[in-house]
Amino acid sequence: MEQSIETDRLTLRRWTADDGPAVLALYGNAEVARWLHRKPMTAAESEEAISMLLERQAQFEHPYGLWAIVEQSSGLVAGMGLIKPRPGVGEQPVEVGWHLNRNFWGKGYATEMACGLITAHFEHSDADEVTTIILPDNLRSQATAVRLGFVHSGEWFLHPVGLNHRSYRLKREDW
Ligand SMILES: CC(C)(COP(=O)(O)OP(=O)(O)OC[C@H]1O[C@@H](n2cnc3c(N)ncnc32)[C@H](O)[C@@H]1OP(=O)(O)O)[C@@H](O)C(=O)NCCC(=O)NCCS
Repeated sequence: MEQSIETDRLTLRRWTADDGPAVLALYGNAEVARWLHRKPMTAAESEEAISMLLERQAQFEHPYGLWAIVEQSSGLVAGMGLIKPRPGVGEQPVEVGWHLNRNFWGKGYATEMACGLITAHFEHSDADEVTTIILPDNLRSQATAVRLGFVHSGEWFLHPVGLNHRSYRLKREDW
């Protein structure tokens, strides 16, 4: 089974038990956590998070699931990429997501990473679209979505957090 996806500057690989410090560096940062409806993660929580990540990623077939984004030039984990059915009831479109360690913003990595995941999604399925949901005031994330070619397609109420999000869609024919 394929275990990684390569882009120009990044390698997407599965998370390992040794990635606790990278998860802490990512989700322990308040500027990242605020957009994910979380308090900054503690060291103890990052160990639990790694166990959960390992369990969850085992439930997905390539290319779906949760990916560690590795910067090829340094070997450091730059963030998390996600591509999976949107949780909830009824129709479950595939959604893509991007979480970058604060030190890796402003390099085009979320756009590049998502390009790799979306291409893999369209190659491995006959789905005609991919979606993403973003908080109305998360302008950096909306800019990434628009850069990739997503268009605003409506609102989505995310029940677990009780907040309205902007829903974006990218059609296969526009990719
Ligand atoms: C959302 C998030 C991933 C966006 O990060 P980002 O680095 O701005 O995203 P991109 O990969 O699209 O990078 C674009 C930026 O890199 C710059 N850039 C630098 N080198 C580049 C290159 N070689 N190629 C492309 N862009 C490059 C662009 O000019 C742009 O900078 P600007 O915003 O100052 O104009 C990041 O803010 C984040 O992780 N936030 C916290 C988690 C979050 O909100 N996730 C989304 C939830 S919906």
